[in-house]
Amino acid sequence: MLRSALVAASRSPRCRALVERLPLARPVVDRFVAGEHEADALHTARALAADRFVTLDRLGEDTTDRAQAEITVDAYRSLLAAVAREGLAERVEVSVKLSALGAALPLDGEKIALDNARRICVAAAEAGTTVTVDMEDHTTVDATLSVVRDLRVDFPATGAVLQAYLRRTEGDCADLAGPGSRIRLCKGAYDEPASVAFRRRAEVDASYVRCLKVLMSGQGYPMVATHDPRLIPIARELATRAGRTSRDYEFQMLFGVRVDAQRRMAAAGQRMRVYVPYGGEWYPYFMRRLGERPANLAFFARALVGR
Ligand code: FDA
Repeated sequence: MLRSALVAASRSPRCRALVERLPLARPVVDRFVAGEHEADALHTARALAADRFVTLDRLGEDTTDRAQAEITVDAYRSLLAAVAREGLAERVEVSVKLSALGAALPLDGEKIALDNARRICVAAAEAGTTVTVDMEDHTTVDATLSVVRDLRVDFPATGAVLQAYLRRTEGDCADLAGPGSRIRLCKGAYDEPASVAFRRRAEVDASYVRCLKVLMSGQGYPMVATHDPRLIPIARELATRAGRTSRDYEFQMLFGVRVDAQRRMAAAGQRMRVYVPYGGEWYPYFMRRLGERPANLAFFARALVGR
């Protein structure tokens, strides 16, 4: 219930105006977001790259303005040039949301988003790194996977994201587990109806394990995006059973979440990539993070009353 309310609030302009105006929100936001500017993202990526891998996400989603989508493409191109200049390309890639690139525009949205994503893939290839296309709510899954398939014709290392809470995902894992296919498996962060998604935690976790089995026994490169302490050893075990070494798959976690576990797993020789968001449009991302753990909301509430 709490999670549904916060996901709904993440789409409410009134809540957004309220939360963005709260000066005391900033320290809590800083736990999950690297900062507003490219320099902040690079600073964080440089520090993390000492022992972990990174995927940088420029915050912004549900763009309904073509000029804004253009600004997003330029920001990614500038970021990728900087990643190359700083010699970070081996450890740092980028994540993009198609709705930030124009997918939600009323006319030709999917084509505009594909063209824009392609321009980011060109910049990533020039920099010597890769792009992963984030997954948004269930109404966008077919269009997103179609864009990923198109991008992979010229940029085969483009990553896709699948959400274990969707009933269709086990099938999508089987379709996408081909040679070299980079697939990030997460539980899913949106509030989806029972007609398309598992709603109970135990069902989502069971689906996650079924999807992991498909990905680990397939020929692709699984990216295990979870902080769940029960799923992590299961992923390791399935990888070992499938004959994978620690270089044949990776774990991924969010910036600011289970940081000790990130460090510990990296020190133990596991590939660990951190998803690092940055930019001024932090509100929807931040609200989804608050909804994932009641303690986050309590922390936020305490910060607001100054304790
Ligand atoms: P779960 O929510 O069950 O959490 C397990 C434990 O992890 C919790 O008990 C807690 O200890 C810790 N934890 C989890 N979230 C926390 C938080 N916000 N704050 C503090 N502790 C927390 N989703 C999506 O729909 N599309 C996408 O493209 C992506 N991309 C993505 C990339 C990466 C690298 C990650 C790690 C996650 C995503 N997600 C996502 C988000 C994902 O779907 C999911 O909402 C969160 O990762 C939380 O799910 P867990 O698997 O961690 O399990």
